[in-house]
Amino acid sequence: MTDVQTRPDAEITGADEPAAATGTVATRRVVLAGAGALGAGCLLAACGTDTSSSGTNGANGGDFTNDPAPAGSAGADAGGTGSTGKGSSGGGKTLVAAADVPEGGGVIKGDYVITQPQKGTYKAFSKICTHQGCPVSKVDGGVITCPCHNSTFSIEDGSPTGGPAKKALPETEIKVDGDNIVAA
Ligand code: FES
Repeated sequence: MTDVQTRPDAEITGADEPAAATGTVATRRVVLAGAGALGAGCLLAACGTDTSSSGTNGANGGDFTNDPAPAGSAGADAGGTGSTGKGSSGGGKTLVAAADVPEGGGVIKGDYVITQPQKGTYKAFSKICTHQGCPVSKVDGGVITCPCHNSTFSIEDGSPTGGPAKKALPETEIKVDGDNIVAA
């Protein structure tokens, strides 16, 4: 007892070390618990790397990862019918009236470019440029043109014919149903 009272301060501090160490452990536990809570928060908030393709416009200059939803699926909206409902009808959704698609040209409606390279032959492509994701803006002279960097695509098969785009516009299956071009 007297030992403790006569020990220098340094020793007394040393004697307290086990308590201090315990305090440190406790502090670490708190920190770890906090980290665990953060992790749970991350799970709940679904934080982490966003791997979706939306909003990634290829700032690196590479080809845009164009992954359009098939016509009539939940992600597609032809827009030509004024309907905002998505994914309810499946195939058969009207993309455009056949009469509105000029022979040797095409129109841009909703998410699609619908072309008529030869009389009575219709094609539909995603309107999203495969370069960096701009929507194409014009169909003229047998090509579909993107305004951002002037990539052009064939109205026959969507293949790139000029500019920086290297990939074809994805084609969508369609059919003629009466007076309309509809998703197959
Ligand atoms: S986004 Fe660059 S040409 Fe279309």
